[in-house]
Amino acid sequence: MSAETSGAKTVFVAGGTSGINRAIAEAYARQGHRVAVLSRSAEKVEDTVAVLSGHSSALGFVADVRDADAVGTALSNVHDLWGDIDILISGAAGNFVAPAESLSTNGFKSVIDIDLLGTFNVLRLAWPYLRKPGASILSISASTAWMPTKGQVHVGAAKAGIDQVTRTLALEWGQHGIRVNAIAPGPVADTEGMRRLAPTDDAVAGWTRAVPLGRFATTADIVSATQWLCSDAAGYVTGVILDVDGGLSLGGSSAINAAMQQ
Ligand code: NAP
Ligand code: COA
Repeated sequence: MSAETSGAKTVFVAGGTSGINRAIAEAYARQGHRVAVLSRSAEKVEDTVAVLSGHSSALGFVADVRDADAVGTALSNVHDLWGDIDILISGAAGNFVAPAESLSTNGFKSVIDIDLLGTFNVLRLAWPYLRKPGASILSISASTAWMPTKGQVHVGAAKAGIDQVTRTLALEWGQHGIRVNAIAPGPVADTEGMRRLAPTDDAVAGWTRAVPLGRFATTADIVSATQWLCSDAAGYVTGVILDVDGGLSLGGSSAINAAMQQ
């Protein structure tokens, strides 16, 4: 798909200023689509918009996905400037490893609020501005949503919630021609998420052993799956949580927990 042949689309990426989400934003910009990103750091937003602008029209918003008013204002501004949103990505997240007994109520709440409430805010507040029919929504989940993982009670609960938001909104919004899906990446190389989950060489080796394909994903692997799910080629796919994990989930909870022990 190129913007020249199919027409430029409006893309909004919540948390689009680093790692996987930024790779998703950059890929759409390189194809000539209009791309807006939102995150907390003014520096990261500025840097991302500078790069995106080299390819296409770009907007940046400094906001926290936990702040519903700020998220709503950003989405409304994008709609005012560019019209209906065609592709909406919700990927803002926080993660750290903490066994439950050392996790405070606020620590648990922070991750639930960023990942789950943040995703609800992004999807719900985008509702008036989504193309109907035709919009495609994608949230970023993780395999910890259904494979209980030591040190990840907060993340697992948040991502499981995202999976159910995905299925429920797919059910509610299907009649409006809106598709709602999620992807659950496996370990992705050179990302903040894996720097936190696998901080040592031994941990990286352990995670690599847990993946049947025998390697970490590249951000390009995740971009490919995202582009397919959000394209017309996946026009009959909705309510799906797509594992893009090199087969990690085939090993179940024991494989992922063995990797976490390293
Ligand atoms: P990352 O580089 O830390 O990206 C997180 C992004 O979200 C950043 O742009 C960050 O920017 C933004 N963000 C964080 N908190 C926010 C908040 N409260 N409000 C608004 N924006 C916020 O992480 P990543 O490793 O690429 O992960 C990206 C996504 O993939 C996450 O949803 C993660 O759970 C998921 N995932 C990652 C992996 C992996 O291997 N890395 C595996 C499975 C799933 P600011 O700091 O400027 O806010
Ligand atoms: N272990 C245990 N608790 C931790 C922790 C850790 N490693 N890191 C933070 N917390 C707790 C804090 O102690 C605090 O709880 P308290 O008030 O009871 O002390 C709570 O979490 C909130 O911390 P704070 O730093 O105020 O939150 P924040 O909203 O500023 O930041 C985080 C959110 C903690 C998730 C931060 O790591 C972050 O911004 N992450 C984004 C990047 C990221 O995680 N990328 C990977 C995505 S997969």
